[in-house]
Amino acid sequence: MKKQSRPSIFSSAQRDLWRAVDSSIWTFDADRLRRDPALPVLQTLLDQPRWLEAHHLYDETGSKLFETICELPEYYLTRTESAILAQKAEEIIRIAQVDCIVELGAGTSQKTLYLLKEQTRQRRGGTFAPIDVSLSSLKVARDAVKKQFPRLTFHGLHGKYQDGIAAIDKDLPTLFVFLGSTVGNFNHSELIGFFQHLSDSMGPRDFFLLGVDRVKKRELLEKAYNDAQGVTAKFILNVFANVNRLMGANFDSRKMRYHSWYNPEWQQIEMYAVSTAAQEIRFPSHAASFSWPKDDRILVEISRKFDPARLQQQLQWFGLKPVAHFTDPKEWFSLLLFHKSSSS
Ligand code: TRP
Repeated sequence: MKKQSRPSIFSSAQRDLWRAVDSSIWTFDADRLRRDPALPVLQTLLDQPRWLEAHHLYDETGSKLFETICELPEYYLTRTESAILAQKAEEIIRIAQVDCIVELGAGTSQKTLYLLKEQTRQRRGGTFAPIDVSLSSLKVARDAVKKQFPRLTFHGLHGKYQDGIAAIDKDLPTLFVFLGSTVGNFNHSELIGFFQHLSDSMGPRDFFLLGVDRVKKRELLEKAYNDAQGVTAKFILNVFANVNRLMGANFDSRKMRYHSWYNPEWQQIEMYAVSTAAQEIRFPSHAASFSWPKDDRILVEISRKFDPARLQQQLQWFGLKPVAHFTDPKEWFSLLLFHKSSSS
């Protein structure tokens, strides 16, 4: 049999875990490592409060709804971050002297185009490797990047963040980019695990660019996650269609409503599905079930808000040294640049 040649971004230990989808997109060969994919879902649904992992939101419908959210008048995040990037990409790329840009949870990589433009202008080329669980989004990103930046090498990594991050060769000077305040969608243990894993996977010449939404007036925050058109509600409740598909379950989205609020102590928006009528939820393939009583809620998503100075302090403990902080005139959103410090 002919051996597929693997691109040079992969470390030797990880190379064989990735399978080619086409000439520029790679998928994590989960079957070889993973047990039953339904088990983690059952675990979180049987936890108290019941909750779901965020990546289940991004099936094809979910990914499209999310793109719509980013353009809603109430949803200031994307616009604000984009404006900062448009202004500061030149400086960011000047500081981060790298050959490769890896974007985590890239979606369609719209905002990253500012960085890629500077990378090609200042360094004439290099590699762009977005990581995403949505294959359709990666294809959209690939088409846009190839068209606009033919000099860049594109390697789409279809998989979860941790799998993609671990795959990158430590010797390749890399800028890891994590935008859109996606880090705010991690819970406590996921957040700490993420920073630890990222830092462990970074080489001494690597940088990390992190985009975070900041703590601000509650009304502004609550509106951003409860838009007048109800797109956010649709996006959140769509997760159950995906879970039904994955597990053969019988969640009935007509018997639930969306509820969200800003929890000031935890500095996070909490997004729930509330049952409007008692439902018996069954997972036939696993001989499992639970009763979901009326008015009981499942935590589908959180979105934490940050204090940038505190986050910089926190990341130092993971061996990440703050090198720059960019924000907008209203100080609603922050882009933080870190360098992997060699003394740790
Ligand atoms: N990370 C962004 C945020 O927290 C985008 C996002 C993730 C989002 N999940 C969401 C937006 C759910 C609205 C609803 O805002």
